[in-house]
Amino acid sequence: MNPQIDNLLHESRKFAPSEEFSSNAVATTALYEEAKADRLEFWARQARELLHWETPFTRTLDWSNPPFAKWFDDGKLNVAYNCLDRHVDAGNGDRVAFHWEGEQGDSRTLTYAELTAEVKKAANVLAGLGIGQGDRVAIYLPMIPEAVISMLAVARLGAVHSVIFGGFSADSIRSRVDDASAKLVITADGGWRKGKVSALKPAVDAALEARGDLGPQDSVTHVLVVKRGENEVEWTDRDLWWHEEMAKAEPEHEAEAFEAENPLFILYTSGTTGKPKGILHTSGGYLTQCAFTHKVVFDLKPESDVYWCTADVGWITGHSYVVYGPLANGATQVLYEGTPDTPHPGRWWEIIEKYKVTTFYTAPTAIRSFMKLGRKIPKQFDLSSIRLLGSVGEPINPEAWMWYRKVIGAKAAPIVDTWWQTETGAIMISALPGVTETKPGSAQVPIPGISIDVVDDDGTHVGTGNGGLLVVTEPWPSMLRGIWGDPERYKETYWDKFGDKYFAGDGARLDHDGDIWLLGRVDDVMNVSGHRLSTAEIESALVAHPFTAEAAVVGAADDTTGQAVVAFVIIKESMLEESAAVEDIAAVLRGHVGEQIGPIARPRDVFVVNELPKTRSGKIMRRLLRDVAEGRDVGDTTTLADTTVMQIITGQVTAK
Ligand code: PRX
Repeated sequence: MNPQIDNLLHESRKFAPSEEFSSNAVATTALYEEAKADRLEFWARQARELLHWETPFTRTLDWSNPPFAKWFDDGKLNVAYNCLDRHVDAGNGDRVAFHWEGEQGDSRTLTYAELTAEVKKAANVLAGLGIGQGDRVAIYLPMIPEAVISMLAVARLGAVHSVIFGGFSADSIRSRVDDASAKLVITADGGWRKGKVSALKPAVDAALEARGDLGPQDSVTHVLVVKRGENEVEWTDRDLWWHEEMAKAEPEHEAEAFEAENPLFILYTSGTTGKPKGILHTSGGYLTQCAFTHKVVFDLKPESDVYWCTADVGWITGHSYVVYGPLANGATQVLYEGTPDTPHPGRWWEIIEKYKVTTFYTAPTAIRSFMKLGRKIPKQFDLSSIRLLGSVGEPINPEAWMWYRKVIGAKAAPIVDTWWQTETGAIMISALPGVTETKPGSAQVPIPGISIDVVDDDGTHVGTGNGGLLVVTEPWPSMLRGIWGDPERYKETYWDKFGDKYFAGDGARLDHDGDIWLLGRVDDVMNVSGHRLSTAEIESALVAHPFTAEAAVVGAADDTTGQAVVAFVIIKESMLEESAAVEDIAAVLRGHVGEQIGPIARPRDVFVVNELPKTRSGKIMRRLLRDVAEGRDVGDTTTLADTTVMQIITGQVTAK
């Protein structure tokens, strides 16, 4: 937990919504009252009003077999139809769905009619490759329209996508493809990042090759390759060019309706063990909560707003707030391929000016890095179109919140700090703009229809002014339906602790107004630049290297990234003798983690030490290592098996 947060709880600034904003706001206080009076009927109304049901549902929630929920389960719908065709049928085919901007400044506009046409063709391509209801398709693409088109084509067929973030390594691709037995992989030759083409297909090739010749066991029959980077790629018998298949595809495709509980996607996320969890989401409930929250939290005016969520589609934010929520609501969006600072540090602000973005949703880590560069850069651009700002992924410190408000929001745009998780599928805690007074640093209140509490270890409500664990006390429509292939792990991870409450893994505090302040993870999950990483996963990558005898990883506070990965490793004697300097070992190990998991997991620091602090029962005391990594005096060491270890480690680390 972040010790600074204690001070932040004395934050007393509050910002009331302006008269003008409130009088035109989509959200109303009546929503809270309605949800409070009858939560299930509230969600049923949202599902009916926000979505098109081919077969209307009569049952809202089936919670007869907790923690396995079913929402709207006798209803049928097609998710892609809801995001596309119905907007065209309603006469909005000419509305822009995406203003896509390549890193190099190339751009492409896709209206709802054009996006629908592309998805229909892509659905025909996939069907031709044998993809049907329930089949899994892995998607490993840059931020190009084809990423969205692929996801929606898979959804249209009632199949299940597993999007793998383009920064992940071949090993990570392989384990995800195998865990889900994906039949098809959709990738690209490469995409533009930081001014050059970053190849993607070689990682897919390596991932599939490393599985050896599985023969008839091999789940992957084809790899569909989008041409984007124009880089040279190797070619095998199972590879097909996307553009060639699309050119041959039939233009018409009728969307079939599937049960509301038909699986929509699997998204892998880090947990407390070395193996990522395949979080499973289904259709009707997920889409309902995505659409509802996108509409009320972002005060959506689909005719006039230009909404930009900067998240990559490889993360849950990209799924829910680039693809499903905004498209279900018929929003106009910006989709950007590249990095914020390429080719110049004002790139994002230039894009906001170019497309007159009204609603901007990003992560605190990005805000903090812009803050470091200074207000001069955003001040060079016209940001006057902005009317609402959002934050997601980690706690936003009040200083960054105030900067965001002043420099980006011209002291007028409300800021919504949205708390949620891969598992929750959609926003759970957030102010509602125009209704809630906002408070820098606090995510504030559960959205209507969501029941949240902060409890102590026994599950008892802590009361205002106190800290504890964040729980969700009632099932919600976009909740995960399980962990792919592992129902026991689902129960153990989220439900066993309290029995009847969902345990989110976050610490939280209620202030004197009853507002919620998130304090960070209470388990061994780190949050680096809003990305979840598991200490265990990085430790197992480190010990897989021949240099390493033992490793312990902690998340240490970092000014820009929120937390940073810091590794403490013991090197095998034999390796220390033959190999070069300790700095080289550290560099090799950092590179190794990057290769095994992906560059985001690369430790900021690798400290080579002789010992690790352990309890008598052999458990590593990460708390002490965190003290060292954050430069604090080491706390209570009396439970260590060898109480001198920390002095030695501190000496070794500070000597560097
Ligand atoms: O610790 C919380 C933090 O991010 C975790 C979820 O990570 P992930 O599944 O990758 O989803 C991120 C995007 C929704 C949470 O357990 N987190 C997310 N949003 C916030 C946050 N912490 C504080 N404030 C937030 N607004």
